[in-house]
Amino acid sequence: MTKLAVNNICLSYGTVDVLKGVSFKLNAGEVVSLLGASGSGKTTLLRAVAGFEQPREGSILLDGKPLYDSASRVNLPAEQRSLGLVFQSYALWPHKTVEDNVGYGLMLRGIKKSEIAARVQTALDNLGLGHLGKRFPFQLSGGQQQRVAIARALVYNPPVILLDEPLSNLDAKLREEARAWLRELIVSMNLSALCVTHDQTEAMAMSDRILLLRNGRIEQEGSPAELYGSPKSQYTAEFMGSNNRVRGKVESIGGQAVTLAGEGWKIVGKGIDPLAPGSDAELIIRLEKVSVTDAPVPNSLSARLVTSMFLGDRWEYLFTIAGLRFRAFGTQARTPGMEYWVAFPEEACWVFAAEA
Ligand SMILES: Nc1ncnc2c1ncn2[C@@H]1O[C@H](COP(=O)(O)OP(=O)(O)OP(=O)(O)O)[C@@H](O)[C@H]1O
Ligand SMILES: [Mg+2]
Repeated sequence: MTKLAVNNICLSYGTVDVLKGVSFKLNAGEVVSLLGASGSGKTTLLRAVAGFEQPREGSILLDGKPLYDSASRVNLPAEQRSLGLVFQSYALWPHKTVEDNVGYGLMLRGIKKSEIAARVQTALDNLGLGHLGKRFPFQLSGGQQQRVAIARALVYNPPVILLDEPLSNLDAKLREEARAWLRELIVSMNLSALCVTHDQTEAMAMSDRILLLRNGRIEQEGSPAELYGSPKSQYTAEFMGSNNRVRGKVESIGGQAVTLAGEGWKIVGKGIDPLAPGSDAELIIRLEKVSVTDAPVPNSLSARLVTSMFLGDRWEYLFTIAGLRFRAFGTQARTPGMEYWVAFPEEACWVFAAEA
């Protein structure tokens, strides 16, 4: 069931078009991430849904009812949209206790004191903060402050929760734990969530679906596995994961198999864009798909190991092959200066038309 429908949203700041016709749906109980590079329009889109920015065109419907509709001139103010919001910076009030931070919005809405106390306690309990209600924000860890910000959004029992980089203030380790916890919380409370992030791993870990935003448009939309495993464009392929990229000329095409060649090398890949023999093309392969062998196998090249870095759970190698540089992962220490065979599985080599 569609909870939130966003149709053809166009939004400009002055003469600058920031959102250029964005449409998507958020189903009930679903977690959707808005992923994209800095400046792609993620925060602007979230703010437009929340009611803090006014689009020029399009419509935004919650349970089929318009929050914004350019055609019928509907534009509900943020406080009437009753969406839960978590800002990137948490924006907690420093001189209010945790309880007051969480309950303040309810007080402004004129809700009875006894009901506020009960709802605040429930929200805090849900987030494991039940015992911290009397503290001030400065007496909490970063992770606890972030939970207070989420509790403050949940206290309204919002139908949809909007989160802008909710984990970005946490350090790397805490962030990894928090994303699992946050997804579990959203799913267990049966909320629908729209979550902005610029971190592709976080988007994949947290969401049922990802919308990849590029320059005010949706570049690709799909499950994490689709975006990671079946990118439709070079942009998506490169945005997700760690990659090797090589430019070459299309030597021949046989069905989906494209032979790409450069000076002293040749690799067969899978054509994603339409390509013509003789044209320039780019080949993208994820680091984990490249394998290192001691003997030649199909679609492999002889390569010299430049350096080998220990990453804890694996090694990362840097090779040079006929003047090209390739990175790969492996499980063992290897000797720089030695020659190896580096194999590129055909299915994992995506070939795109080179951008001019
Ligand atoms: N109030 C504003 N006035 C004018 N331009 C703005 C305003 N807010 C944002 N922009 C511009 O709109 C574009 C999109 O900004 P937005 O904040 O939505 O990006 P973002 O995807 O959230 O980026 P980040 O990952 O850096 O937070 C940027 O080019 C930004 O400079
Ligand atoms: Mg932003």
